[in-house]
Amino acid sequence: MDPRTSRGRLPLPQRGIAFGGDYNPEQWPRETWAEDARLMREAGVDLVAVNVFGWAEIEPEPGEYRFEDLDHVMDLLHEHGIAVNLGTGTSTPPPWLTTAHPEVLPVTRDGGTISPGGRQAWCPSSPVLRDHAERLVRAVAERYGDHPALALWHVSNELGCHNALCYCDESAAAFRRWLEKRYGTVDALNAAWGTSFWSQRYGSFEQVLPPRATASPENPTQVLDFRRFSSDALLDWYEAEAAILRATTTTPVTTNFMVTAHIHTQDYWSWAPHMDVVANDHYLDHRLDDPWAELAFAADTTRGLADGAPWMLMEASHGAVNWQPRNLAKQPGELERMVLTHVARGADAVCFFQWRASRAGAERFHSALLPHAGTDSTQWRATLRLGALLDSLDEVVGTTVTSDVALLFDWQAWWAADAPGHPTQDVRYLDEVHAMHAALRRAGAAVDVVAPSADLSGYRLVVVPALYLVTDEAARALDRFVAAGGHALVTYFSGIVDADDHVRTGGYPGAFRDLLGVRSDEFFPLDAGQRVTLDDGRTGDVWTERVEARGASAVARFADGPVAGYPAVTRHEHGAGVAWYVATRLDRAGREELVAGALADAGIDPVLPGAPAEIDAVRRDDGAASYLFVINHGRIAFVASAPGLDLVTGRSAETHEVPAGGVAVVRETTTDRWRSGQEATA
Ligand code: GLA
Repeated sequence: MDPRTSRGRLPLPQRGIAFGGDYNPEQWPRETWAEDARLMREAGVDLVAVNVFGWAEIEPEPGEYRFEDLDHVMDLLHEHGIAVNLGTGTSTPPPWLTTAHPEVLPVTRDGGTISPGGRQAWCPSSPVLRDHAERLVRAVAERYGDHPALALWHVSNELGCHNALCYCDESAAAFRRWLEKRYGTVDALNAAWGTSFWSQRYGSFEQVLPPRATASPENPTQVLDFRRFSSDALLDWYEAEAAILRATTTTPVTTNFMVTAHIHTQDYWSWAPHMDVVANDHYLDHRLDDPWAELAFAADTTRGLADGAPWMLMEASHGAVNWQPRNLAKQPGELERMVLTHVARGADAVCFFQWRASRAGAERFHSALLPHAGTDSTQWRATLRLGALLDSLDEVVGTTVTSDVALLFDWQAWWAADAPGHPTQDVRYLDEVHAMHAALRRAGAAVDVVAPSADLSGYRLVVVPALYLVTDEAARALDRFVAAGGHALVTYFSGIVDADDHVRTGGYPGAFRDLLGVRSDEFFPLDAGQRVTLDDGRTGDVWTERVEARGASAVARFADGPVAGYPAVTRHEHGAGVAWYVATRLDRAGREELVAGALADAGIDPVLPGAPAEIDAVRRDDGAASYLFVINHGRIAFVASAPGLDLVTGRSAETHEVPAGGVAVVRETTTDRWRSGQEATA
């Protein structure tokens, strides 16, 4: 059996989907706490995160711990049957610490010191801070390790949200140690960084610095390695805290990831195997063209990080956030659509920031499960409805998503692709990844987002958007996948450099030339606003290149622009499989047509045949039962032909009308279609 279809459970005590959020009782008088616990029960909340920012409360003076309030909260929650995701509390050091040890504060590229007064003002490589934090973690673990409310350890909070890149002397020393470990000799470092360029050759590791502000463009490999180091430094921090917790208890340990569009400092492919539970924080980002598409992408990526197993949504917002330029409240139905987009893609815990809206502090205008207005409010009624909705979905817990399509996504490629000094500033890695993911989703395909190093053998189609940096091994694995009968769809600016960010010579796209049966000898990026037309009527912008078909056939050619007459879209039969190449950024309709064609070519049916692009359909199953999630982002009702019981309405029927902006989760009556799909992927 395909391991991706096996049933897995989050190691949490809840029988169904866990529901809750961050709970910050320290912001409220004790009288409020009893009301909190009572209302949590009323809403069906059964998991809350406490002590996330607790350091200053529980260690008010150096080495003096005061646990009485937290004891009370833990006991109270337990009495009400609410489990605790317990923060180690290390996410923000208290003022006494930063006053006594200003050397723990992070330093920016241009040498400025970040002040306390916000949060996360600490250097990830600071041994002084590590010492203090480890003492705190030990104290918390000893105090609460056997508390009956404890269900999960929550290390720090969103590691690297604000402090991922620190350029202080302590970080510089840690960077050098990391480099010595990676390269062994300074000659190897010189080779990897290409230091014969611009007189940068190092005589010893002592001469190496973090990429602090420079007068000219920096060494790109130095910058890339600094990002790798910085991600590893915070992972090391996580591991240090986790080791203390694991030595004291057997309770699972995690921290909250930020798979989002605006933070990309952690290489979560390397972090995920260290988590007992993969957890993500996700907020709809209204600065993006299509926040809902990004949400689906983030959820598919989080499932990829969990290796296909169920995962936890650690934070989301009930209504508006407070950190975007304009913080849009949710319209009726949006909360359910948001939550079900996560659950459809494997979330078995749904938690929010935060339980009760704050009165003071930087986030006082952030929404919460219990708003400022109190229980006589639309938001509170929505909280109660959400609790009931999640209860009705308990049986989906442990089921998983099976997909025939993988999309390769990589943080390291993102870091490298978006660096300056490239042929154009208009190729934005994440935009291309999002665009391809959105096209797949709109074509009705279920998509696994996986690392370039993932095992591809279970897929029929692998989509590779703008994978500028790719290792030799990953490139070879894609080649083998296609040669063995798989299909691949690769888009422009892929396979250009190796792991050191050195250009692969002999013609572009270096790593994928043979696979794709094409060779380009020059890039022709387009001017701002410039469009080109293809001979089949589609258009492109941002990118063109002079592609010569070397085994591939041209599906479409550029009809105008700098490389008129040359192939724009190619298809290559390679071994037993097929590899497509797209040498421009197609317009949305053109991209969707291309993706639909590639899916059909690979013999992949939509999850819900005939559904329009505004319908997000995802199936979770475990081989015994299957659940079809239908999320209607459109403005008109959609009738889903899906025989079974809709767990949302409680109605059993052959077809289900999903209202505009509405949702359905159908426990499917076993159909031939579903069965044959199962057999095909078994
Ligand atoms: C993140 C943090 C929370 C809070 C929210 C606000 O998820 O972890 O502490 O700041 O953002 O959206």
